[in-house]
Amino acid sequence: QDLDQPYRTGYHFQPPRNWMNDPNGPMIYKGIYHLFYQYNPYGAVWDVRIVWGHSTSVDLVNWTPQPPAFSPSQPSDINGCWSGSVTILPDGKPVILYTGIDENKSQVQNVAVPVNVSDPYLLEWSKPPLNPLMTPNAVNGIDPDRFRDPTTAWLGLDGEWRVIVGSSTDERRGLVLLYKSRDFFNWTQSTTPLHYEDLTGMWECPDFFPVSTTGSDGVETSSFGQDEVKYVLKVSLIETLHDYYTIGSYDREKDLYVPDLGFVQDETAPRLDYGKYYASKTFYDDDKKRRILWGWVNESSPAKDDIKKGWAGLQSFPRKIWLDESGKELLQWPIEEIETLRGKQVNWHNKVLEAGSTLQVHGVTAAQADVEVLFKVNEIEKADVIDPSWTDPQKICGQDESSVKSGIGPFGLKVLASKDMEEYTSVYFRIFKSNDTNKNTKYLVLMCSNQNRSSLNDENDKSAFGAFVAIDPSHQTISLRTLIDHSIVESYGGGGRKCITSRVYPKLAIGENANLFAFNKGTQSVDVLSLSAWSLKSAQINDESISPFI
Ligand code: FRU
Repeated sequence: QDLDQPYRTGYHFQPPRNWMNDPNGPMIYKGIYHLFYQYNPYGAVWDVRIVWGHSTSVDLVNWTPQPPAFSPSQPSDINGCWSGSVTILPDGKPVILYTGIDENKSQVQNVAVPVNVSDPYLLEWSKPPLNPLMTPNAVNGIDPDRFRDPTTAWLGLDGEWRVIVGSSTDERRGLVLLYKSRDFFNWTQSTTPLHYEDLTGMWECPDFFPVSTTGSDGVETSSFGQDEVKYVLKVSLIETLHDYYTIGSYDREKDLYVPDLGFVQDETAPRLDYGKYYASKTFYDDDKKRRILWGWVNESSPAKDDIKKGWAGLQSFPRKIWLDESGKELLQWPIEEIETLRGKQVNWHNKVLEAGSTLQVHGVTAAQADVEVLFKVNEIEKADVIDPSWTDPQKICGQDESSVKSGIGPFGLKVLASKDMEEYTSVYFRIFKSNDTNKNTKYLVLMCSNQNRSSLNDENDKSAFGAFVAIDPSHQTISLRTLIDHSIVESYGGGGRKCITSRVYPKLAIGENANLFAFNKGTQSVDVLSLSAWSLKSAQINDESISPFI
């Protein structure tokens, strides 16, 4: 670890330097995984004239840097190459649809195609003179500043392609505009959007994909004909900077998406991640028959610090994503390839975390680790009754720790902790109960990732994150998986029902001086049925000595 760069990661994707935001066009092609990303070659802050950075991998863990796939070069994208997606055509050829900022600073949709389809690395892309393919105009009433981020396209029953583009109206109605095409190059706008919701503001980076109702395998975006799928629509709301999803059905005749439950934009609305996480995108991995999710994890530090360290932005570790058996929520889990990085392992079995105790997990590199814990709560009836006004999980998680006294929990992990606990990031659960009108007791599991004590440097955003996990702790164990990587803490609660990603910048708990603890601040003991922690080796992430990075 470079002492001048304590916050660079060992296995989370990042370019060698400069600014990165959204993941773009992830795919697998001829056995090679590709990730493109919004990249500013000129510095560590966002710039409108952003380009498509590009890296390739054989395992989604180690990445080879490639020259940017394309940059502003023609009237339809001269002011920036913004986000977009890849579609694999029936003949196996990949095509990119992306947003260009044109010579009039208007957002338009463009296409890019590989120059040489026999090259599995797809190093060169060309932009056909046909661009732009879709433009906002006075007739269709689209605002030229709110027309971006085309998804992967899919085929309809009539053999025509469909794609959606994020937008909003002046009245803050968020929507995904639908376009159709026979040949993928000439597109016509449908009179009705695929879906909209009032008062949600601009929808960025939509993602629309089928999920299986019978297992965790992924479903190819264009597949149709089976009954055994539901659809997911994910949108990134610019007003809150969170990624929200709904699960529903897709009426192929009318080309309408109908969510099972309406979209309520409050603190408990389903999100892919309840921490620092935005502009995510999935792709179908045909090799391993799974759907994989990437998401941009921004810094929580002031821009001046990003400029000083010369970089900003990470991608989350790639996650497999699928529909829970209940059909009501999505599950996420780090892709299995992470296991290739595992080194030394520490195991605990059936340990009791006494009330008020803190136990150190010795023997792993605590700054770069993978930890999995299974908790079992005792005497659940001792849980505190939740204050009915506590509806916002993030606010409960943000309560001053010293004032929190509760029956069950907080219990969990303190990660990236300094020896004497001057610094730590805590990832934990609290259990509450509530009584409904029939006097039936219901238990609530709150999951928190609290950055409040993460660094002696107070200039970073250290607000806490939280979510309720839909499990019943009176019957079920509570699992926590946490990926720790120097300045990022990615946590999966309840088997991937809720995910929370944090960025932290310890001053003391760096490298060898980082520690890992299990803790229980509640007044009741909690059982650790098992705890496994692994030191993780560093992956090769865009190492310039392996391949020159331009
Ligand atoms: C989301 C976003 C997209 C846009 C891109 C520009 O973070 O604002 O809507 O295409 O970033 O870099």
